Amino acid sequence: KDHLSTIKDQLQTGKLPQWIMTDPEIHQLEIEKIFSKTWYFVAHESEIPNKGDYVSRWIVHDPVLLIRNSEGEINAFINSCTHRGVHLCTADLGNKKTFTCPYHGWTYNIEGELVGILAGNKLYGEEMDKKEWGLRKVPKVESYHGLIFAALNPDAEPLEEFLGGLKWYFDIMLGRSNKGMEVIGAPQRWVVDTNWKVSAEVFVGDAYHTAMTHRSTVELGISPKDPLFASNGYQIQLEHGHGLNVIQPPASVSIPPYQGLPEEMWPMFQENLTEEQLSVFKNTMVFNGNCFPNLSFLSPMHGKGEHENLTNFLTIRQWRPLGPDKIEAWSWILVDKEAPQEFKENSYKRYVNTFGPGGTLEQDDTELWTRLADASKGVTARDKNLHFNNVVNYLMGMDFVEPVDDFPGPGIAYPTTFLDVVHRGFYEYWQELLSKES
Ligand code: FES
Ligand code: FE
Repeated sequence: KDHLSTIKDQLQTGKLPQWIMTDPEIHQLEIEKIFSKTWYFVAHESEIPNKGDYVSRWIVHDPVLLIRNSEGEINAFINSCTHRGVHLCTADLGNKKTFTCPYHGWTYNIEGELVGILAGNKLYGEEMDKKEWGLRKVPKVESYHGLIFAALNPDAEPLEEFLGGLKWYFDIMLGRSNKGMEVIGAPQRWVVDTNWKVSAEVFVGDAYHTAMTHRSTVELGISPKDPLFASNGYQIQLEHGHGLNVIQPPASVSIPPYQGLPEEMWPMFQENLTEEQLSVFKNTMVFNGNCFPNLSFLSPMHGKGEHENLTNFLTIRQWRPLGPDKIEAWSWILVDKEAPQEFKENSYKRYVNTFGPGGTLEQDDTELWTRLADASKGVTARDKNLHFNNVVNYLMGMDFVEPVDDFPGPGIAYPTTFLDVVHRGFYEYWQELLSKES
């Protein structure tokens, strides 16, 4: 309790105790008060288009099995056999009519019903009602523009209410095309020795790191020399700890409209988006942000047109906590279903080279995230009484940058992306949830 109020006090002055990043107690508290309470991203609908398609996922340590049933609906079950609790389906994805447990052979159908017990009637007689022993459902499942979220909390507010103003920006990234977005391939996963908050706070709005962390791209001539280039645009603070950056070019630079997406797609955008959404979309190079707690997204455009292919993809990230200093990163890449095949392929290649697990930019980031965790485990960093002044800095823009009043989208919009406003918003909501009585 005391420590939580210290965090709150520090946050009000733009600082955070360094120990919160790798603390085992905080980690437990996060599972209890955040990950078991809020909506958690699990899959995109295009991953399981047909009846019997399934993917297996995790909500931190809860195994989840998503299956499209015979009615075409998606159900989410706890992926644990009701007989003795074994992890039922360990394959990442596939298509099945039934799921048979490898332990004693109990079998479930795609509705999650228990339909087969090895030698069942002889062993259990009439006493056991199979209906009672179907797979347990995840309490809540809802989706928005194909993004499927699940909640372990039966009292979670409706998803759309939780997303709030973020929906407006998701409409641009995911709802601009008639048929929506599709995931290419399966999500890639890798383990990083860091804390989930480190990666989430980079995506929520840390445009500041790009000039230094991704210095090699400047030296290769891929990124502009001006270290302030990525500060152009807006930082948007939203409710529930959500936030994003809308990076736009300075007035002197012109870019292809709609993130370089082919001209034949523009009428479709005009049909599906409002005037306000179009005005933001048209002039934006990069959207990056975080849907609290740990769903990050990044939609960059690349290329110059004539000499270099234009590309645009959306990568979404799930930072699954494996412990206080370990995450499993899950990365999906999405493209517009209706984009020309060549554009999709070029965008996919660009993703692999930049933000895929072996991509240059991803490698740059990963290295720094592990260094941050490494240097936050010592005696001085971990002191909860802050005797060593072991606090870190979230002061950028505090007290001197005013929001603008003419930005057409929801949220509080600030006229630069080099700010810690959304970081403070993220940690304020985080702190609020951790402090909530059960
Ligand atoms: Fe699954 Fe026994 S634990 S059948
Ligand atoms: Fe980065």
